[in-house]
This record gives sequence, C-alpha cells and structure tokens, in this order.
Amino acid sequence: MNRLLLTGGRPLDGTVHVSGAKNAALPIMCAALLSAKPLLLGNVPRLMDVATMSKLLAQMGVLVERGDESGMSLCAESIGDPIAPYELVRTMRASILVLGALVARCGRAKVSLPGGCAIGQRPVDQHLKGLVAMGARVSVEHGYIHAETERLKGARIVMDLVTVTGTENLMMAATLAEGTTVLENAAREPEVVDLAICLAAMGARIDGAGTDRIRIDGVARLGGASHAVMPDRIETGTYLAAAAAAGGRIKLTGAAPDSLDATLGKLREAGARIDCAGDTITLEMEGRPKAVDIRTAPYPGFATDMQAQFMALDTVAIGTSVITESIFENRFMHALELQRLGADISIQGNTAVVRGVDRLQGAAVMATDLRASAGLVIAGLVAEGETVIDRIYHLDRGYEALEKKLTALGAKVRRLA
Ligand code: EPU
Repeated sequence: MNRLLLTGGRPLDGTVHVSGAKNAALPIMCAALLSAKPLLLGNVPRLMDVATMSKLLAQMGVLVERGDESGMSLCAESIGDPIAPYELVRTMRASILVLGALVARCGRAKVSLPGGCAIGQRPVDQHLKGLVAMGARVSVEHGYIHAETERLKGARIVMDLVTVTGTENLMMAATLAEGTTVLENAAREPEVVDLAICLAAMGARIDGAGTDRIRIDGVARLGGASHAVMPDRIETGTYLAAAAAAGGRIKLTGAAPDSLDATLGKLREAGARIDCAGDTITLEMEGRPKAVDIRTAPYPGFATDMQAQFMALDTVAIGTSVITESIFENRFMHALELQRLGADISIQGNTAVVRGVDRLQGAAVMATDLRASAGLVIAGLVAEGETVIDRIYHLDRGYEALEKKLTALGAKVRRLA
C-alpha cells in the first residue's frame, strides 16, 4: 500500500494551478444520466473518485470518454441496468448521486445503501423522503434502495437538515418531473450552484440555486451541453492552509476566491496576508500562525472539509484554539495522529481544544479519510524530520497530482511503494 514521505520544516514557495472540484464533478457526471444527448465537460480532475464514478456510469451503459487533458464526454443514449452495486457504492458514498437521475429518467433504480463511514453515520433518509414526496415508491431490501414510479411529480419538500448531495439528488430528479418542485432548506454550497448551471445548460429550469429555496420546473426531456467544472475550493484551501502553517509565499491560479470567504477570513485571522486578483490567490505568511477558533457549518459557514487542515495549522499556532465540528459526529480521527507528531489536543464530544506548540516532530501516521489525510500532510510539512503517512489512497480520492503540486511549492515529498 502506498505511503507518502514528507521531510518537513521548510517554508513553501511557488505556484500551483487548482484542479476542478471533486464535489462538483461527481454530481455533474451523474447529470449525464438525465439526457440521451452528450454532456461535454471541462476541468474534470483526475482522481480516484472520478474514475470510480466513470466505472459506475459505464456499467449502466453510459459512454464515458476521457480527453487528453481535463476533458470528459458522457453520453447516456440508453441506460441498460439502472443499478449501483454495493462494490462501487461502498468505496465512494457519492455513488448515491445516481439515484435521483435514474428514477427521473428510467422510472426505476436500485442503489446500494452507502452505509456508515469513518467520519460518521451519514444516512440518506432525506434523499429518500424527497423522492417519496415526488411520488416514488421507495423500499429498502437486502441493503439496496429500490425506487420506482411512472413519472416523478413536482412537490414542495422541506428538508429536515441541510444536505449537499441530498439537495443535488432531488434537484436532478426534479428536472424531469411533472410540474414544479420546491426544495426548502436546500444546501447553498457552490457545488450545488455549479450543478444547477450545468443542468440549466442542458435545458433544465431552475431558480434559486445558491439560496435555501430552489425551484425547479420539470421539463419533458433534457438535451446535451458543455460545461466547465468549477475550481476545487477545498483543494485551494488546503494549499493555502499548508502555506499558512509552514510559512512562505504561494500563488494559486485557476481558483475561485468568491467560494472561499470563510476560509480566507480564518487564514487572515491567523496572520496570513492574502491577495485575490481574478482567479489568482496569493498568500504570504511570516512566523508562526495565530490560533484560530473554528466552528464548521453549512455554506457559507466554515466547511467541515477544511476542519482537519485548520486543526493541523492550530497545532503549531501561538495560543489555544477551540474547534467545533457540527456537521459530522466522528470527524476528529486526525487528532490522534496529530498527537503522534507532538500536537497538544484534547477532545470532548464534538469539540477539540488545541494548544499550539513550538514545533511538531516527524513520525509515522495513518490516514483515516480524505480530509484527515490532508491535515496530516500539512502537519508533515511543518514537522521537523521525516513523516510517513500510510494509507494515502484516501488522498488519491480527492487531490489531483498531490506530490507534483507540493513539489512545485518547494516541499520535499516522495511516494513510497
Ligand atoms: N444527513 C442526514 N440525512 C441525509 C443526508 C445527510 O442525516 O439524508 C446528515 C449527514 O449525516 C451529515 C449532515 O447531514 O451529518 C450533512 O451531510 P451532507 O448530506 O451534506 O453530506 P454529503 O452530501 O454526504 C457532501 C460532500 C462531503 C462534505 C459534506 C458536507 C460530496 C460528494 N460530498 O457530503 O465531502 O463533507 O457534503 O459539506 O459532495 C469530502 O469531499 O471529503 C467530503 C466528505
């Protein structure tokens, strides 16, 4: 199993280009299921999760072709079996995103229940509740969700909590429903907006994406479209947090600064100088960061996907910080690994108290999930000596060309077989 060797303790300096957003690319790929015409995508990142989604869609009969660069074309002229098997869903929870589109297009779907994962239980009850409200008959048998209907009907759906993929699934389903659907308490994440832009290009009628009330007027069919996936705000934030923790000066091109208000605000609070010009973000940091408190929340609040990276930053900050995780119940797995590097962290329920230390020391650590791994990479860049991160397949799920990009920033990093 691959491991990552980092020799830390040096500031970062250099320029990297931000990749397309994983969490926008995955739902947008599923949107191809809604139309018999081709969907041409640009800025699709080369990631394990994208490869898994391609495999899942191909297995249903979607023609998926990758271009040389970041292009991808998907054509679901006909869909064979509207089934998402356990073997694929188990490795990537985002597979649940095929559910809404399949029911809308084929009138039936069989999708494995995703089950729990390292960061929490992650139920899909809101996805199912929405489909039932739209007239689907839904049952769960032998670990599979079965959903069927003649044609989905528009409905007013009030979600009990803010769910990103739940909003995306129901928004896709509603595009082909008969009549109007209103999603209340919808997720406002920029990735929801990016999906809505792509769906609109395919002919969908959607209003209010980016607010907590999305209105979708169903149409009989959708067509083909071209769409460039938005920049990855979490990848952007990860490199920025790395430079704020390790010090130095980095420039990120191809970014979307507007999607990063909460992250940029916290980095400034930590003492970083940040300049945004168009799609470029420059960050400069001298000396140790100042401790920053974090409370995760749905967008536009502070992203749970940036929590581990900021915990890593806080471990070497001047002062004590309080980090509250309010989205997932078990997203502090990285704290134990950070302690192996000499961090001073105590955890009570969903709150972590991090007392900044002068320095971390390299050690062997284990990646437990994607963003936890990103936190460990940041800690490894800061720690003196060598840090070896095991199970880095988690990183390959969500960070394109990680070693190449870190090397471009002057980091000493090597993949070990
Ligand atoms: N929830 C329910 N019922 C539901 C749906 C969600 O109780 O039917 C709960 C979840 O258990 C969680 C909260 O609601 O406690 C929010 O979960 P959400 O549904 O928003 O998460 P998600 O859609 O499964 C997406 C991202 C995650 C990101 C979260 C939160 C994708 C493919 N995944 O997951 O990204 O952490 O939103 O912003 O978009 C990652 O990229 O590393 C990642 C985990």
